[in-house]
Amino acid sequence: MKFGLKTVEKLVKGVETSDGAGVNLKRIIASSELKMLDPFLLLDEFGSKDPDDYIGGFPPHPHRGFETITYMISGKFRHKDTAGNEGFLTDGSVQWMTAGKGVIHSEMPEQTEGLIHGFQLWLNLPKKKKMMNPSYHDIPAIDIPEKKISGGTVKIISGSFDGVVGPGKPHTPMFYLDILLEKNSEINLPIEKDWNSFLYVYDGKINCDRIIKKGCLAVLSSNGDFHCKAEETSNFLLIGGRPLNEPVSRGGPFVMNTKAEILQAFADYQNGKMG
Ligand code: CO
Repeated sequence: MKFGLKTVEKLVKGVETSDGAGVNLKRIIASSELKMLDPFLLLDEFGSKDPDDYIGGFPPHPHRGFETITYMISGKFRHKDTAGNEGFLTDGSVQWMTAGKGVIHSEMPEQTEGLIHGFQLWLNLPKKKKMMNPSYHDIPAIDIPEKKISGGTVKIISGSFDGVVGPGKPHTPMFYLDILLEKNSEINLPIEKDWNSFLYVYDGKINCDRIIKKGCLAVLSSNGDFHCKAEETSNFLLIGGRPLNEPVSRGGPFVMNTKAEILQAFADYQNGKMG
């Protein structure tokens, strides 16, 4: 361990599960190993070459109280909601959905063969914003800036890196980077003091005080700079945010502060008052 650098507090492998209409995915945050990492409520990785794993998609379902950030590494998905919004997610693009007081939407594949690979992150909304009006922000790949570094590239989806600001507009402070590091290259970057942060290696192997292999999430200590070296050419997500430190009450697709608010969300959904 080097002084002033982040250490790995916990390694998480995630669990294979299925959601939507039988889509196979890996749940990395919101599993028994890691229930949440304030302000992050869930992280799923979906990835398959087999259409049987994804063809059913995610037919209409509701959300309330948080934001979903879908990052498509490769593949094509169509998104629709009951308010008439529609968006198309393709290779390298992001959809930023703020569910706020409620949406009913579907997320369906627009391809019948080939590789689909991507991530969905749930970012909690602060108590005072949970009932805000829903909104969507479709971010095409071309609008996501890439900063070259020695032996790698950093894509800035949200937050900033080395003076470059990403297009994502979160309702609570956070950053979302996708980093490519070539073998034996290193990266060092500051992260706000007392923020929660994690990295998830989706290809290769990196060394960040401990070895983190493909398919592993590392929860990082809250203080110090982030530093790592690639043992192999690697791709990983580096994500962090300021903890909300508010009570969290979850009920299926709804995340509020109290159980009563969850029951209200189910009642509003049943009574057609959502989306
Ligand atoms: Co959804």
